[in-house]
Amino acid sequence: MNKDGRKSRIEGFRRMERSERLARLAACTGLEEGEVAALLDPNPLPFKAAEHMIENVIGVVGLPLGVGLNFLVNGHEYLVPMAVEEASIVAAASNAARLIRHSGGFVADADPPVMIGQIQLVKVPDLEAATRRIEAAVPRLLEAANVVHPNMVKRGGGARAIKVRPLPATASGPMLVVHILVEVGDAMGANAVNTMAEELAPTVEELSGGEARLRILSNLADERLARASAQVDFKQLAAGGLSGREVAERIVEASAFAAADPYRAATHNKGIMNGIDAVAIATGNDWRAIEAGAHAFAARNGRYGSLTEWRIEQDRLVGSIELPLAVGIVGGNSECNPRIRFSLRLLGVRSARELAGVMAAVGLGQNFAAVRALVTDGIQRGHMALHARGLAVAAGAPEPLVNDVVKQLLASGEIKLSKAREIVQATQLDG
Ligand code: MEV
Repeated sequence: MNKDGRKSRIEGFRRMERSERLARLAACTGLEEGEVAALLDPNPLPFKAAEHMIENVIGVVGLPLGVGLNFLVNGHEYLVPMAVEEASIVAAASNAARLIRHSGGFVADADPPVMIGQIQLVKVPDLEAATRRIEAAVPRLLEAANVVHPNMVKRGGGARAIKVRPLPATASGPMLVVHILVEVGDAMGANAVNTMAEELAPTVEELSGGEARLRILSNLADERLARASAQVDFKQLAAGGLSGREVAERIVEASAFAAADPYRAATHNKGIMNGIDAVAIATGNDWRAIEAGAHAFAARNGRYGSLTEWRIEQDRLVGSIELPLAVGIVGGNSECNPRIRFSLRLLGVRSARELAGVMAAVGLGQNFAAVRALVTDGIQRGHMALHARGLAVAAGAPEPLVNDVVKQLLASGEIKLSKAREIVQATQLDG
């Protein structure tokens, strides 16, 4: 337990009954019992709330909400809410975080939460002259942008800078793009930035002598990068008959593979996003925006590459990650969805920047777990064991028979729903 009273290492959590898990979470986080009990409501999202969120609502889809354990980030303990359907992601993240905490945990940080809004200008007669006029008007433009969001300005945020980017040769001729950089506080910031872009468009249109078209944020939020790094002692790495150094060397080779080959980089980065998206969904963040930003950033040098890098330093494997993370802890979903409020309380982050740092750490940990498995046992063994459990339940195995059905399914070598159904039927007949 660290100085804020939190603890993320809970022995035997996996084997506990749900009620015991919740009691332990309450004890480890200082959450009131009532707050934790909110999870026991069988309805994850009131239908009325759902109906106000999107159109044509007919129901609510469920997704398991798990807890990533063992996360030590910048000396703070985090219990990480993860909403995801894929077996082994939560277990892999927790295992990685356990190994990494033995070597000091993650170090993470994030830039101030600055979003980019874009205004597209077409039919600009002279790109250079228009650029000069817009640049000369920056103080006036910033002031005008801040007028539309006085509360954001009161809370210390607001428009910070204007940048002009000429695109001299698009398929539709020359264009000028005006970027407005806005510090959005603890929100994701999409609405604020879009409003400001729309507000400024007529003025920049006039200054440019052209016509404004699109006025919308950019999901390549590269003013809002989050970073994390981690070290793992060789002695934590030995596995499958390989020494810790050998495993580390193979992980470095896997990192070089992802850096050199977009086919591998896409899968490598998908593994990273397994963790990041799970936290994004649990905390009510826009995972499509995060995905778009991550992959655009991965291609920033003109070729799609890896979001992480692993190298060896003395007797340690050292990894790092950097990516845009436009996330918030206020606004949007967090207000109307009780599970999301719970997840944010469980995680205990006090700012959007802190959330971004933790998410970067989760992405790095998830990547470490995947690559470590790939360079040793391969991914399928652990994956299939968990998949078999899901199939046993889907095939209708009653709770007391699940373990037995899983065992038979794995032994059969046919990890399929049809086989699971066959085994469930036979097992029930036997019983
Ligand atoms: C599967 O969801 C993710 C992995 O493919 C990631 C990777 O290959 O690094 C295991």
